[in-house]
Order: sequence, then C-alpha cells, then structure tokens
Amino acid sequence: MDQKIETLNQKRLQALAGGGQARVDSQHKKGKLTARERLHFLMDEGSFQEIGMLVSHRSTDFGMEKENYPGDGVVTGYGTINGRPVYVFSQDFTVFGGSLSETHAEKICKIMDLAMQNGAPVIGLNDSGGARIQEGVVSLGGYADIFYRNTRASGVIPQLSAIMGPCAGGAVYSPAITDFILMVENTSYMFVTGPNVVKTVTHEEVTSEELGGANTHATKSGVTHFACANEIDAIQHIKKLLSYMPQNCEETAPAIPYQPGNESRPDLNSLLPENVQQPYDMRDVIEQVADGGSFLEVQKDFAPNIVVGFARLAGRSIGVVANQPAYLAGVLDRHSSVKGARFVRFCDSFNIPLLVFEDVPGFLPGTDQEWNAIITNGAKLLYAFSEATVPRITVITRKAYGGAYDVMNSKHIGADMNYAWPSAEIAVMGAKGAAEIIFKREITAAADPEAKWKEMEQLYSDKFANPYRAAERGFVDEVIEPSETRSKLIHAFKMLENKVVNLPRKKHGNIPL
Ligand code: COA
Repeated sequence: MDQKIETLNQKRLQALAGGGQARVDSQHKKGKLTARERLHFLMDEGSFQEIGMLVSHRSTDFGMEKENYPGDGVVTGYGTINGRPVYVFSQDFTVFGGSLSETHAEKICKIMDLAMQNGAPVIGLNDSGGARIQEGVVSLGGYADIFYRNTRASGVIPQLSAIMGPCAGGAVYSPAITDFILMVENTSYMFVTGPNVVKTVTHEEVTSEELGGANTHATKSGVTHFACANEIDAIQHIKKLLSYMPQNCEETAPAIPYQPGNESRPDLNSLLPENVQQPYDMRDVIEQVADGGSFLEVQKDFAPNIVVGFARLAGRSIGVVANQPAYLAGVLDRHSSVKGARFVRFCDSFNIPLLVFEDVPGFLPGTDQEWNAIITNGAKLLYAFSEATVPRITVITRKAYGGAYDVMNSKHIGADMNYAWPSAEIAVMGAKGAAEIIFKREITAAADPEAKWKEMEQLYSDKFANPYRAAERGFVDEVIEPSETRSKLIHAFKMLENKVVNLPRKKHGNIPL
C-alpha cells in the first residue's frame, strides 16, 4: 500500500507543479499569480476540493504525446466563499499557455454541470492563449460546449468571469455570456482579433492594451464591469459581488442583520441645487439612502449618465438604477440604456429588488444616436423594466420628462411604488421648450417676445413642473420630503417582500436586440 500511496503522491506533486518552476517564475515576473495561488486567495481557507487533478490531454499530434501535465492547464473544483458554496475553474497559463484542449473543456463543463445541478454560482478565472492549437477542431468543440452551458445556466445560477491574462478569439464569448466580467489592469486583455490581425485587415496600429485592456473595456466598450488594480483586488471584488447575490434563481440574496435606527436623512433636503439646470451627483443621494458604505457601483466608467450597482437597504440586497445629472444631464442614450437594461435583467433573474432614482431630461438627440439605433437600444431598458417581476420602486428627484418618464420604471410599466420629491417635474418636456412650441404664435405676436416667452414658460411651469399632476392621477403614490426617502423605502420594500407575479405562459420574450 505504501508504494501505491507514494505513486499517488508523486502524481499529485506533478499536478501541483503545473508547467514547471521556470514557467511559474515567468508568470510571477509578469505580475501574475498562478492558477492555484488565485484559488488560495479566492476560496475560504481549506475549503477547496479539486476535481480532475489527474486529467490528461489525448492529443498525439506534433509530439504532444511526449508532453503531459496532469490537470491539463486548468484547476477545477468546488469550495466555499464566505461560507457559501461555489464552483470554480482557474486556468493555468504555465501549462500550454492555459490553452483549451478537449479535456480542459471537459473539466470546465463538469464543474458547470455540477453547479447547475446543485444551484450554486460558477466563477471562472481566465488566463489562456485560447484554443489548443495542436488539437484543432476538438478544442473548438470544447469552447462551444462551454458556451452552450453558459447560456443554459444564464438566469439559473450567477456566473462570474475574471480575466487575469489573455482572453482572445472565441475564448471571449464564454465570459461575454456570463453575468459579470472583471479585468485586471495591465495584465489582462480581451479581443476577438489581436493587434496583428487588426493591422493586416484595417491597417490600424494599436497595442493589446489599447485594443482590449481593462481600461478600454471599462470605458469604451463596456465589456467589463470592473477594471481592477491587480489580481487581489479582482478577487476581493468577486467576493463582494457574490455577497449581494443569491445562490440561484430560486433563492433570495442573504440579508445581513440590521438594527432599525433613525432613518431620517435631513441632508437630502438641501442636496439639490436651486437651479434645475445645475447638476448634482446622484451617487450622493444613493449613499445617503442606502446602508452606510454598502453601494457597489457596476460599470462605473462606462456610460456614466446612468449609475447602476448593488446596495443594501436595512440589510437587504437591492439593485440601484439611477440617472446621473452630473454627466450629460442624466440623459438616456444608447449605451446607458443597454447598461441599465442588462443590470435590471440580472437583478430580476436573481430576485434582487430594484430601486430607481430618476432625474432624466429625455433621450439624447442626434444622428449618432438615431443611426446607432437609440430606438432599439432605448427599447431594451423599457422592455427590461416592463418584464421585471421583482419589487420595483422609483423615486423621482427632479426631471421626469417625455418618453424617458415612462421608461424609467414608471407605474405604467409595473413599478410597485413611485415616490416623488417636491422638486420633481413630471412633464412632456422642460417648461422653456414647451412654452416655445405651444405658445409660438403668442410669443411671435408679442411686443416683447422674450418677456412673453418668460411669462408662458412660467405658466407651463406652474401647471406641470411639479409632481402634483402625477400625484392627482396616482401615477405618483406619494410626494415625500427628501429626508424621508430612506424610511419610506425601507417600509415599502418590506411591504413588497412577498410579491408574486404570475406571467402568461411563453417560451421567452423577444427583447429588442
Ligand atoms: N495552444 C497551444 N499552446 C499555446 C497556445 C495555444 N493556443 N497559446 C500559447 N501556448 C503556449 C506557447 O506555446 C508557450 O509554450 P511554452 O511554455 O512551451 O513555450 C506557452 O503557451 C506560453 O506562450 P507564449 O507565447 O510564450 O506567452 P506570451 O505571454 O508571450 O503570449 C499569447 C501569450 C496568448 C499572446 C500567445 O501565446 C499567443 O498568441 N497564443 C496564441 C493565441 C491564439 O491564436 N489562439 C488560438 C485562437 S483562439
């Protein structure tokens, strides 16, 4: 028996060595951790159980039969993070550049199948040179097996992808289907085709970092939800993100104990500028209303005219969607609509109630917006809110103009409660523009058109630039003092805790894509 145990130990040691010390050193030199080191920092101490440590590739072409590394370039298994079960795979760049072979893919699929069967999140730590070139189509088949499972698992279990090295070609599409992507600044990149191909095809000169680094995807494309300073920062973000989510779509997110206290927030009464044209930072409102320090912003640097993220209210996890008057006056455009829609759909999939703060002057005009399908993209946000069955509450802080009023979680599309501050203006448009259109004749005929315009603007403003018309109709459930917001929301979300909506039977809706 001793001999047999010795053989087992030898094999285990071989697997633990990955691609060997020289390659591990080279990984460290690039400022990257190894696959196993990452798992060490991610998982609760002693909780990680590896599956498939001795799996080997089956390739015999190009001398591959002579090169074998147990585990085949990916460490897979399960364990806990903050005491909650998760399934993980961590690609090992020291073994064939973490490239994906048939067996490497099988290991990932096995983990995903277990996660689905047992209802727990899957976390992928990606660091790979892509398809194992020596294997050809079986490797491509392996990718497709993963994509298929990503899609099947979407909305059933949370899926998180950390990009901690290269992620190129077809490999990008697994993270793209998952719920959240986290990239590490300077050491990770994602693109469908790399700089060399780009140069050949379009004659553009671009570095990997510019083309698909963390900052590019955090600001320009919105592909990544987080750009993290380093790998440890990315791992901390994964843990924090998970804390707001349930294990699967049948459960609710864990709440943390909460001691009721003084929920009045008097600072909110003076937060808005007197002049409605002046900006303020909606994040200040969110910070005041949510439990202290609980707000985790998602896609912070992409389409900043909408703010989305997770927070806690009286200990419970909520998703926040808010117009941001501090950027482009909080206007809705194609990027912010898609950003908002995707977040709303995540929250709805996983039973996370939605809180909307609204201050929106409408949709952004212009050829760029129209030719890039603001119609279809704006419809995504409208559709996402309309289909959401989680508790939904809106607080209108200031402008709620035009079609954007309907879109931003209005009562008409199923919001459960709609509050407005006394500063709310719920109208087809701002008073100045409205007066110009409907009193055009009176203004041009007047001896002093400017004065007439002002007079008419005031007339329109008195009638519509307030929340009371909407409140009379019940489109606003209550006009509240800003300082009361937190208290009102705590009560209302509690009231909605057991909300059940029975939808008509269908396969799935057809969201405008
Ligand atoms: N298949 C098989 N082996 C691969 C591989 C792949 N797709 N990508 C990298 N490797 C191997 C390399 O042969 C090298 O092996 P070695 O340690 O025995 O020398 C090792 O992984 C590290 O690769 P290297 O090129 O030295 O690392 P790098 O950091 O300089 O560059 C990449 C990383 C990903 C940019 C580069 O390896 C690359 O371009 N890979 C191919 C990408 C690709 O076209 N994939 C297929 C399409 S999806």
